Amino acid sequence: MTDHTEHVEIALTDELLGIRRRLHRHPERSFKEFETSMRLRNLLESHGITVLDNPLDTGVIGEIKGEHDGPQIGLRADIDALPVHEDSGLVFASENEGVMHACGHDNHMAMLLGAAHILLEKKDELKGKVKFLLQSGEEMACGAKYYVDHHILDGVDAIFGQHIWGTLDAPYVCVASGNRMASCDNFTIRVKGLQSHGSAPQDGHDAIVAASAIVMALQTYVSRKNNPVNPLVVTVGKFHGGSMYNIICPDVELVGTIRTYSRELRHDLEADLNKIIKNTAEAHDCTAELEFSPMLPAVINEDHELNEIAQNAALKLFGPEGVNNEMPALMGSEDFALFMEKIPAFFAFIGSRNVEKGLIYTNHNEKYTVDESVLWRGSALTAQFAYDFLNNK
Ligand code: NI
Repeated sequence: MTDHTEHVEIALTDELLGIRRRLHRHPERSFKEFETSMRLRNLLESHGITVLDNPLDTGVIGEIKGEHDGPQIGLRADIDALPVHEDSGLVFASENEGVMHACGHDNHMAMLLGAAHILLEKKDELKGKVKFLLQSGEEMACGAKYYVDHHILDGVDAIFGQHIWGTLDAPYVCVASGNRMASCDNFTIRVKGLQSHGSAPQDGHDAIVAASAIVMALQTYVSRKNNPVNPLVVTVGKFHGGSMYNIICPDVELVGTIRTYSRELRHDLEADLNKIIKNTAEAHDCTAELEFSPMLPAVINEDHELNEIAQNAALKLFGPEGVNNEMPALMGSEDFALFMEKIPAFFAFIGSRNVEKGLIYTNHNEKYTVDESVLWRGSALTAQFAYDFLNNK
């Protein structure tokens, strides 16, 4: 396919820009992507791509059957937007007040449609099937779970996903092996004490002091319990309690998140947290209860065969000058990890930052926008990966 690279760039760019801009103008929140799904469905069907049954109200699943028998590859793009008031100044800025494609998922959809276009042209050569998974609800960190629970991955041998990224310079793509995005687990801690007059702490049990000690103990967990070579973040993002300056507070709620790459540490997190919070609370004559919510495993590119296919695909298409595998692993999370937990998978990044063009804002910022000249690369990489996976099997 590589001899078509130049042709692909020229043919795709206009088409992708049109699609991306229309999608950007009409963003929709997670699981509310009704108009988006209808547009995607129409686009797939207008290309002659079979649209399969979808278990959710939003999202679209398409399929191309190659001429020859073979394995099945899944290609995934997420489709939802964020509750952000757009301030990008783009002529095609969001027309849905308070909703913005601030994570760049509009580009993911466009790139996947571009890949479908390329693969359709190669249908006669394809050995196996390509399943296009235009997935809803990524930003809620649970969209992928519905697809797994509804057996959408049954029969799929491997899956590819990618994210456009605001700290990676355009036009690089990053197809690095190993750690890419961290696991995510959330917690709520309820600390209970005894209310008394603010001037008489000896008559009460101060939940604010106990909760403060818990916050500090959780930070010490990062520095003392964790192996320092394993990245770990424990953030208490919400600390809520108290009613008045002269009342010893009896109830505090702490809400936070934990990000890491170590499966062993993740396995122990709930038990470790319980031990820390209960004993710390007890030292202050209070009690503490933990509500632990496991969310997402880490995104780690660890399938050697897929790593090789992705890296060779990127080099064939863009040369070493178009690849930057030095992009550091992130502590953010991605629900693609739930697919990765089930079947062999690979996750790539497409650089969208361009300082010369003033495109310096990062994902989730209200001014985030991308260097659109990279979009064809995302399509080409996706298509090449799928083609090589199917045809080298
Ligand atoms: Ni995203």
